[in-house]
Amino acid sequence: MSIISPHGGKLVNQWKAEENKPDANGKIEIDAMALSDLELLANGAYSPLTGFLDQENYESVVETMRLADGTPWSIPITLPVDEKKAEQLSRGDVAELIYEDTVYGYIQVDEIYQPDKDKEAENVYLTTELEHPGVKKLFDRPNKYVAGEIQLIKKPSRNHEDKYYLDPSESRELFQQLGWNKVVGFQTRNPVHRAHEYIQKAALEIVDGLFLNPLVGETKSDDIPSDVRMKSYEVLIDHYYPDNRVVLAVFNAAMRYAGPREAIFHALVRKNFGCSHFIVGRDHAGVGDYYGTYDAQKIFSEFSEDELDITPLFFEHSFYCHACEAMVSHKTCPHDDDQHVILSGTKVRELLRNGEKPPKTFSRPEIAEVLIEGLKTNSPIKS
Ligand code: ADX
Repeated sequence: MSIISPHGGKLVNQWKAEENKPDANGKIEIDAMALSDLELLANGAYSPLTGFLDQENYESVVETMRLADGTPWSIPITLPVDEKKAEQLSRGDVAELIYEDTVYGYIQVDEIYQPDKDKEAENVYLTTELEHPGVKKLFDRPNKYVAGEIQLIKKPSRNHEDKYYLDPSESRELFQQLGWNKVVGFQTRNPVHRAHEYIQKAALEIVDGLFLNPLVGETKSDDIPSDVRMKSYEVLIDHYYPDNRVVLAVFNAAMRYAGPREAIFHALVRKNFGCSHFIVGRDHAGVGDYYGTYDAQKIFSEFSEDELDITPLFFEHSFYCHACEAMVSHKTCPHDDDQHVILSGTKVRELLRNGEKPPKTFSRPEIAEVLIEGLKTNSPIKS
């Protein structure tokens, strides 16, 4: 058996060394989200995309969760610019993509168009409410979209150790070196708790390796910062996993909080990193009460197995049961709720902020310690 094919069949590579940079006749200032998308377009994580979506593909993604040629793609990857910038640009231009005074890449401008953001919000996020952080971000960004193929000439600066940055071609090579054919991908934006560990290990029983791939791009302000979270993953691997069964690498994308649609996107991207399986638990990529507990699992039935290719592994809401003395779900445990340890994210954050460890049945004590320590120095947590 060989490693899974990238989405669309071929791994995209839009990386060009700085000396090969094209002559540009325009400039576009981009935000942090566009910068992370630029890198992920260039390194093939978003294969088969080679640039920011044109209107036909954008509308197709918004309406059908597929590119215009029918390939599944659930989240629009777009480059917003304001009206003034849109007027300055024309088809055929080559524009520098600039973030905080540094040129990171180029776009070959193919089209400038007016998106229907209400429809985008309604279809992608299933709400137009600005309280939803993904919808707020969508409407906060400028109102015209620029489409075209991109090139990356400079890699964005890194907030974590270099060893945690793997391009999809590198993770694929590593999985092959490790002799892993079946690899399960795990997305997370939270510090690791025992339910995470439980579903990772349950999945690991049926595959060769775990690709622990925390999202470290932009998240909402009350999510725990990625440097603190990374420590929690390191401690988990050190204390609770055998050597050579886990690869930890960052996923440098912005969080969209788009629930079901983002679960599809997360799975397709992990396929590009070489994962054959992908974990989807309860309320994957959700926020507040916008999505049903298992909506991010149900959405997979809107695609055939062949078109997604990566195999989703669905897990029920998991928790510790005192009567079973084990991690369980309602699928495996007959006991009443009073035997179950279920803590809300808000409650856990409150405990950690007060320097208190959540119960051992919820968080491994070594992990709680690094979280408490990390949050002392770096605590944007709101109550
Ligand atoms: S996410 O926004 O990145 O999805 P989080 O880091 O909380 O959030 O979750 C990572 C993965 O673990 C997701 O697939 C999520 O569905 C799953 N998950 C989180 N907590 C539980 C739980 N208690 N039971 C089952 N699955 C869970």
